[in-house]
Amino acid sequence: MAEELDIVSDLSKKEKYQQLIPQIKGLIENEPSLIANLANVAAALRQAFGFFWVGFYLVDGDELVLGPFQGEVACTRIAFGKGVCGTAWKENRSIIVPNVDEFPGHIACSSDSKSEIVIPIILHKKPIAILDVDSHVLNDFDEEDRNGLEAIATFLIPYFK
Ligand code: SME
Repeated sequence: MAEELDIVSDLSKKEKYQQLIPQIKGLIENEPSLIANLANVAAALRQAFGFFWVGFYLVDGDELVLGPFQGEVACTRIAFGKGVCGTAWKENRSIIVPNVDEFPGHIACSSDSKSEIVIPIILHKKPIAILDVDSHVLNDFDEEDRNGLEAIATFLIPYFK
């Protein structure tokens, strides 16, 4: 497919995910490189929704290490169980944080990040990476984001094998 996205801007969030998901499938399906696909998925999500920061952290021993992302420079390593990302990894579940200041242990890579959603990418029942999306707006994420981002995370699993 052509390396460009076709997203109509005045759609609801649900409709945007419906438009974006097949395009993300198309972007990655003929490309075996994990890094290339993580990079393009981060870019596609930021482009479609204008999120403040979108990126991946990859499991590396007992830490997460920063992977491909779009946005400002970020913390490179996060310990198991620390921050929102380390908690999503430890608890093996997606986490929506409406207000990052109210999440105990939140790791602030930027003071401009106000709300956050973290989705684990799970292989053989264990997270192998984390998709982290930050917004500069409070309470920006809901079940539509969880459903859409979990679907996108699922497409990425085969590239980790
Ligand atoms: N806020 C995250 C750290 C990663 S940055 O947001 C990019 C956390 O608490 O795990």
